[in-house]
Amino acid sequence: MAKKWLTKAYNKIQEMSWEPTYVEKDPRYKTDYTFTGAQPKEPMKQVLQSYFPMQEEKDERVYGAIDGAVRGNMFRQVQPRWMEWQKLFLSIIPFPEIAAARAMPLLTEAVPNPELHNGLAIQMIDEVRHSTLQMNLKREYMKNYIDPAGFDITQKAFHNNYAGTIGRQFGEAFITGDAITAGNIYLQTVAETAFTNVLFVAMPSEAAANGDFLLPTVFLSTQSDESRHISNGYATLIMAMASNENKDLLERDLRYAWWNNHAVVDAAIGVFIDYGSKDRRKDRESYAEMYRRWVYDDYYRSYLAPLEKYGLAVPHDLVEESWNRIWNKDYIHYVAQFFATGWPVNYWRIDPMVEEDFEWFEHKYPGWYDKFGKWWEH
Ligand SMILES: [Fe+2]
Ligand SMILES: [Fe+2]
Repeated sequence: MAKKWLTKAYNKIQEMSWEPTYVEKDPRYKTDYTFTGAQPKEPMKQVLQSYFPMQEEKDERVYGAIDGAVRGNMFRQVQPRWMEWQKLFLSIIPFPEIAAARAMPLLTEAVPNPELHNGLAIQMIDEVRHSTLQMNLKREYMKNYIDPAGFDITQKAFHNNYAGTIGRQFGEAFITGDAITAGNIYLQTVAETAFTNVLFVAMPSEAAANGDFLLPTVFLSTQSDESRHISNGYATLIMAMASNENKDLLERDLRYAWWNNHAVVDAAIGVFIDYGSKDRRKDRESYAEMYRRWVYDDYYRSYLAPLEKYGLAVPHDLVEESWNRIWNKDYIHYVAQFFATGWPVNYWRIDPMVEEDFEWFEHKYPGWYDKFGKWWEH
């Protein structure tokens, strides 16, 4: 009964979408992609009537966890090292979220598919939800953590501190330039499909290991919306692949989006996971291990590489080089030094490393001590 009613509502929505004949279309958000001859696709059919109750329940869980954290005295037990790096992380991340919301009108205008417009509208609400939940999370940290200094200026530091601005160019890439390049390839196909695993799954598990159970609740609530965004992205990608004229654009954009996402996300999240943690159990995964599993195996081998079947050249060289940078060229370790060198202008603290840290790094990245150990001892 309910399902029948939802299908009816879903079909009704399509009738409300039409192209006016009395004006010529002059898109505000332009694209070089063409969608002539593409079959409209929308694999995840959803309507707001079923969406809102589900999201409300997820929000309630988040607010319940906030109450629990305050009552359970979490803010006195969490690892200060972890919390300090959150001052940087949470100054950055709400902006890409709201930039993702702002990318939805770009896609809605550029992709001629009324069914998908519905999915994009829902994604827009998701992204606003993510941004506000994360803003509220840092507000809670500021109110309750023993040392709020840094959380109080995260919004300002985001735009005028060297570290914050690195994150800024990541979020701005969602809404800058060609509508499909920005909203579909950069955001949905690469950032959301490949990198949200390390952003929203690896970060929560590391947070929990450092005594912070609030961040996992917020970020897993975020990640559970991501399958919808991945599905929106895939639908658009398949539509774009239907026109041969898009081939060069797609190949260009995949290269650009892959490299830029890797350079920013792996730099930041790699440092938070490897350098921002006090959990030095030898069996807990390093960033390189997580990357290998979630980005290299899950995304590259099972999502990106199979696109080659449709005649698309996949940027194998760049994917291999990203891994090479992480594993052989010490990308994350150099970025950590870079942030530590910035200490006079940082709005978070970096505590000295201890013996346990050195052992863990040497165990996870053999040869690390000879290259970096001395530097961190001083
Ligand atoms: Fe999001
Ligand atoms: Fe998203």
